[in-house]
Amino acid sequence: MRLDKFLCEMNKGSRSQVKDHIRQGFVTVNGAVIKTPEQKIKEDSDLVTFRGEPLTFQKFVYYMLNKPQGVVSATKDNTARTVLELLPEEKRTGLFPVGRLDKDTEGLLLITNDGQLAHRLLSPKKHVDKVYLVGIKKALTVEEADRLRQGVDIGEKKLTAPAKVEILEELQIALTIHEGQFHQVKRMFKAVGNEVLTLKRIRFGRLQLDEKLSPGQSRELTEEEVELLHES
Ligand code: URA
Repeated sequence: MRLDKFLCEMNKGSRSQVKDHIRQGFVTVNGAVIKTPEQKIKEDSDLVTFRGEPLTFQKFVYYMLNKPQGVVSATKDNTARTVLELLPEEKRTGLFPVGRLDKDTEGLLLITNDGQLAHRLLSPKKHVDKVYLVGIKKALTVEEADRLRQGVDIGEKKLTAPAKVEILEELQIALTIHEGQFHQVKRMFKAVGNEVLTLKRIRFGRLQLDEKLSPGQSRELTEEEVELLHES
């Protein structure tokens, strides 16, 4: 594997950041400072250090699931089917969903064993955008759409952060938010006197749901998609 890719996979920064780190001499391979990002290493046996800290290779895996309705975003549940049960059995060990979608919500769910990346993507400070397609009960007025854009009271300490609201059809809205309060989208529409009838997440950070996946189907992310996530 290339040295810069290895460092990215070990969560030491985006591809361009790790290239800079390497060029600045922060990285050694088997005791020698290496300043060429394209240097090939044997990730299982070479000893790589970053700023003096040895890095042990752990293979991270990343799946995109088009979550269907009726399954829960958990690793275990006593009654309902979980999102993990939708992945092939031999691939499930150590994996967990990044955040939650409600049982009746569909769409993009990331499943991984990369705890650090998951933590970053879910951190409220990172403001990672999520885009939802929202089917609503009645048409939004201009005033209601503006209230959603500016922030509404959903019973938390603060109003919701500014959101992007696009009216796609009379009863179909694309909503972009970066917060992730419990039932947030449903509570936002309730706050303006409406009701969410269907909910589907189509984007998470810079990662877009692959529309070729029907509900219940999953696939591994491509290398480019993993990089996009690291940059999200
Ligand atoms: N907001 C909701 O209300 N439900 C979800 O599943 C995700 C966001």
